[in-house]
Amino acid sequence: MNIILIGFMGTGKTEVGKRLAEKLFNDFLDTDELIEKSEGKKISDIFKDNGEEYFRNLETEVIETLQDYENYVLSTGGGIVLKDQNVQLLKEIGPIVLLTAREDIILSRMKDKNDRPLLENGDKAEKIKGLLAKRDPIYKSAADYIVDTSDKSVDNIVEEIINHVQNKS
Ligand code: S3P
Repeated sequence: MNIILIGFMGTGKTEVGKRLAEKLFNDFLDTDELIEKSEGKKISDIFKDNGEEYFRNLETEVIETLQDYENYVLSTGGGIVLKDQNVQLLKEIGPIVLLTAREDIILSRMKDKNDRPLLENGDKAEKIKGLLAKRDPIYKSAADYIVDTSDKSVDNIVEEIINHVQNKS
């Protein structure tokens, strides 16, 4: 089976996704990585050269190409849920697990990073606050299962997700 991880930047999607894939003997895929490969440039350069809307359309294209594959864990970019079409496409791939974290934790994880175009040029804490407020209801309505990663180890989070998906099948 496939598992989809959604959630804000800094909630641990990539790290958790990799470990989850290892445990399940699944492949690990990441929409940002697939986009960077197909475009041959970094996400921040895509935003700079082509803009956010162009990037959002690439996200849709990528998840369209993944519809026919099996047995992977998919980590997604934090804004993938902004297009309703993407949420519908993701739902067809597998259960959607939302990773969350407290705002202070997200800030501490993002503080020294400069590869997230939406958090550049201004006060990071304010940007995180604004984006989270806008996205929180969208994340929650897309999610089949929610894990708060704030005070948990990666192994605990992975275990929680595996218990959830196995009890459901
Ligand atoms: C974005 C999150 C990033 C990346 C891009 C836009 C967002 O992915 O897709 O910078 O809109 O939240 P991560 O969530 O993996 O950081």
